[in-house]
Amino acid sequence: MKKILSILIALIVLGVLAALALIYLPFKPTPANEALAADWKAEAGRGEYVMRASDCMACHTAKGGEPMAGGRGIESPMGTIWSSNITPDKETGIGSWTLDQFRAAMVDGIGGHGQQLYPAMPYENYRFMKESDIRALFDYLQTEVKPVRNEVQATSLSFPFNMRFGIRAWNWLALSGEADFKPMAGDDQQIRGQYLVEGAGHCAACHSPRTAFMAQNGTRLSDSSFLTGGMVDDWSAPALRGKDSRVQQWTTEQVAAYLATGRNAHAVANGEMALVVEHSMQYMTDADLNAMAKFLKTMDGQAADAAPEKVATPGPRSTAVAKADGAGEATAKLLKSASPDMPLGARLYLDNCAACHFVSGKGAPEIFPELQGNAMVLGKDAGPLVSVILKGASSPATDRRPMHLVMQGYADRLTDGEVAALASFVRKGWGNQASDVSESQVSKVRQHVQADAAPQRAQ
Ligand code: HEC
Ligand code: HEC
Ligand code: HEC
Repeated sequence: MKKILSILIALIVLGVLAALALIYLPFKPTPANEALAADWKAEAGRGEYVMRASDCMACHTAKGGEPMAGGRGIESPMGTIWSSNITPDKETGIGSWTLDQFRAAMVDGIGGHGQQLYPAMPYENYRFMKESDIRALFDYLQTEVKPVRNEVQATSLSFPFNMRFGIRAWNWLALSGEADFKPMAGDDQQIRGQYLVEGAGHCAACHSPRTAFMAQNGTRLSDSSFLTGGMVDDWSAPALRGKDSRVQQWTTEQVAAYLATGRNAHAVANGEMALVVEHSMQYMTDADLNAMAKFLKTMDGQAADAAPEKVATPGPRSTAVAKADGAGEATAKLLKSASPDMPLGARLYLDNCAACHFVSGKGAPEIFPELQGNAMVLGKDAGPLVSVILKGASSPATDRRPMHLVMQGYADRLTDGEVAALASFVRKGWGNQASDVSESQVSKVRQHVQADAAPQRAQ
């Protein structure tokens, strides 16, 4: 509450400043960052590829709606922000837009009526994209997407967030440096990876923390907080950088496989990341997947192992259950003893979880995620872990790995006290070191989970 209040006060102050600034300073759109000939045309397929890499579809398509016709609600603490129709319909879409208008939306966050866009549209990241990609994308949207007439519901946030001109002041704070890509000192592959991660992929929108003004804290490699971990709704998007991050312990090949399929030898993606994989990353070429993986592994100057050219080829699958390692041995031994006086958490794990995640906590490659050293299990906030236990989880389905993997939820089977004991057990098992979870924490998450599920049941 205190945080919201201080944000509010800051926004009001900023709003006043912005009102003054608006009187004196006309808006100057950012010019193209590459000079292209007037008759320049992107090669066939490039625009669609850029659309996949930047995942426009995910936000601009309503549930069950026509592609790109908008009307998907994006929840924010201030109210729902409705995404725009970006099909080439002349009246309700962007059919009559010029390239300059489109660039202003992508780079400066200015909409078709000259209005400031809410940063739910990730222009904080798209502004690093090259003119050639922006133009390829614009041509694709204008010529290859079906025009759909769809008047999208107007966004009306609570005061003072309904005053869009306040966003102009916010932009001065939030948008650091020039709207152009700054390549790192690296080889072509690293630079391509950096370009995709910083720009189109907008990974920082979830994986960077937020400032007090809710701007992304770290949008490019040179920012020290870039990709050091963030929250998406109540979910954690783990740090991808720093020695404690799991990505830094995976091989380059494993990172690329995770992006392409949402799974690798250690982890299975769920929630928002499953959607990123399903809608966007699975369409990336092997070369681009490897480039992003290499960039992530080497962004702080580390050496990286070389990955095979083809990503996530189905190899012979080992059916041997991974044995517990040194750190996990004591926990595995306790579970194997199946002794009647085992602590409650351990007993619940053995009865409900060990069939898939095993007594070793190591899971099975590409099927059951490892719980030992798992960022979600160890999270400072235990909410996501409790939520997965209550609700279950499901992995993305991709062309390379078509099968959805599903874990059922335990909300109906376990009480709050039992879930607390179980969650505390996995947070301390196999050498994991994280705080205990209380019954009241679980009951809060349960209320949330039930509230989320309610509208679906009503349908
Ligand atoms: C994370 C969600 C998200 C993603 C990803 C996203 N957008 Fe948006 N976009 C929005 C929202 C929400 C709005 C409306 C913002 C507002 O009303 O202020 C918007 C607004 C726009 C507008 C302004 C339309 C108008 O009528 O003024 C354009 C153009 C646009 N987006 C294009 C794109 C393109 C192209 C992509 C892919 C490169 C993309 N968006 C990706 C959420 C997103
Ligand atoms: C819409 C939010 C969102 C975006 C955008 C996003 N991620 Fe994620 N990412 C998440 C969440 C949430 C998780 C945790 C998934 C889980 O718990 O299974 C995650 C997990 C990951 C992981 C596994 C980390 C670990 O320790 O288990 C990697 C690697 C990753 N993301 C890379 C990326 C890259 C690279 C991009 C940009 C191309 C990206 N993500 C874009 C939300 C996002
Ligand atoms: C039938 C097999 C099965 C059982 C039983 C099972 N799980 Fe899972 N679990 C899975 C699968 C498959 C996933 C991957 C789904 C995903 O993350 O998309 C998963 C994911 C998870 C995750 C998320 C990991 C991450 O990094 O995102 C956690 C935590 C977890 N399980 C804990 C448990 C606990 C605790 C129990 C016992 C209450 C349990 N599981 C029982 C199959 C199972």
